[in-house]
Amino acid sequence: MASSKRPLQCLLKRALGTRGFCALPKKSSASPSSSSEELMRMEHEYSAHNYHPIPMVFSQAKGTCIWDPEGHKYIDFLSAYSAVNQGHCHPKVMKALVEQAERLTLSSRAFYNDKFPVLAEYLTHLFGYDMVLPMNTGAEGVETALKLARKWGYEKKKIPKNEAIIVSCCGCFHGRTLGAISMSCDNDATRGFGPLVPGHLKVDFGDVDALEKIFKDHGDQICGFLFEPIQGEAGVIVPPDGYLKAVRDLCSKHNILMIADEIQTGIARTGKMLACEWENIRPDVVILGKALGAGVLPVSAVLADKDIMLCIKPGEHGSTFGGNPLASAVAIAALNVVKDEGLIERAATMGQEFRDQLRNVQMRFPEIIKEVRGRGLLNAVEMNNKALFPASAYDVCLKLKERGILAKPTHDTIIRLAPPLCISLEELKEASKALSDVLETDLPKMQKQIPDSKLAAASEACDRCGRVLHD
Ligand SMILES: Cc1ncc(COP(=O)(O)O)c(C=O)c1O
Repeated sequence: MASSKRPLQCLLKRALGTRGFCALPKKSSASPSSSSEELMRMEHEYSAHNYHPIPMVFSQAKGTCIWDPEGHKYIDFLSAYSAVNQGHCHPKVMKALVEQAERLTLSSRAFYNDKFPVLAEYLTHLFGYDMVLPMNTGAEGVETALKLARKWGYEKKKIPKNEAIIVSCCGCFHGRTLGAISMSCDNDATRGFGPLVPGHLKVDFGDVDALEKIFKDHGDQICGFLFEPIQGEAGVIVPPDGYLKAVRDLCSKHNILMIADEIQTGIARTGKMLACEWENIRPDVVILGKALGAGVLPVSAVLADKDIMLCIKPGEHGSTFGGNPLASAVAIAALNVVKDEGLIERAATMGQEFRDQLRNVQMRFPEIIKEVRGRGLLNAVEMNNKALFPASAYDVCLKLKERGILAKPTHDTIIRLAPPLCISLEELKEASKALSDVLETDLPKMQKQIPDSKLAAASEACDRCGRVLHD
């Protein structure tokens, strides 16, 4: 058994000593019916098979640390896809949650409540927009922005009825609803779910000339350009310098809404409050989610100025839970934590440190690691397919897990590394060392053990845009 899988109590001193608010949870009480093995069996039996999880069961978490039902400790390097920027179960967020839960949880927007207006003012002032439209999940935030763009397109830009077009990027990820997958380049996400929503055009991410051409050819019909400032699910793809600025100029020139999906990149993840700040860009519409709820509750929000937001009238859009007082209290606390604990600066400096460490690992294994990239604490290690053969990034993540590091692959060769922003230097070093050890010790063994037949299928072209994005 790997050292990270020592019983919980053995790790007491170390955990308390090095990790901020990472105090130990109560002693594990895993019984046979709540063992990891049994829980995974139950989920497989009774839940839809819509994920392919790493076989590890979260039972308790605090800060950057997670414990499974047997009491083994791990360090989180996924942060629930960047939803837990503030760290798991942050005490200030939990306090806000509990206090609000005891007072009022839901009004629906059929009435007012005494928490959402406070959040609305806070968010609009903090991000510099006139108004906010609250939703719950990220995908709902994206749907909201798409509807808002279409409505603005018809009302303000005078696009002929039902002809509005949204442009999105190849390789994008905006969620799993029908509108969001209609822009997806992932065949698994789209096949068998047609017909997809019409009114979309695709453009290569980072390609200013291609965007300009689309805007020139179809500009009169295009109401919005939806993009991620850094493509997360695609494998932490950072666009070339100047791209965001060029997009801003083109959108302004062609009277097209620049819609930034900051659901994964926002709330300090990349070392700025919003990743668009890396180029000092102000999009027309910003979508927030994930860490806005500190990993405690789903909270999403769409920000825009009045001339855009007021295109949506009462009854035209909404959600029973959007703007609920419990989520509002949590979001206020979540943003306060980011500010009070200097998480923006922390993400920037720790991120740089982490990339330096990972590049040292790359120097040790230049034939295996193709690239280390990212901004702030949103990073990825891309490996060479041939050097991994017949193992994959998933297999590497399984071995990282055995060494106490929880990370998830994106595609066959990329590992995204996105810990909570309260991560310590020691923990970053643990992760870099674990990766190095996996590549040195575990990978050669895996390569002998994994049958060649388990090889990932050859990359195929996207059904929508015809491009092969990952090979
Ligand atoms: C950029 C981006 N947009 C939208 C979403 C969808 O968010 P949710 O899973 O909360 O619906 C995600 C989730 O990973 C995302 O990364």
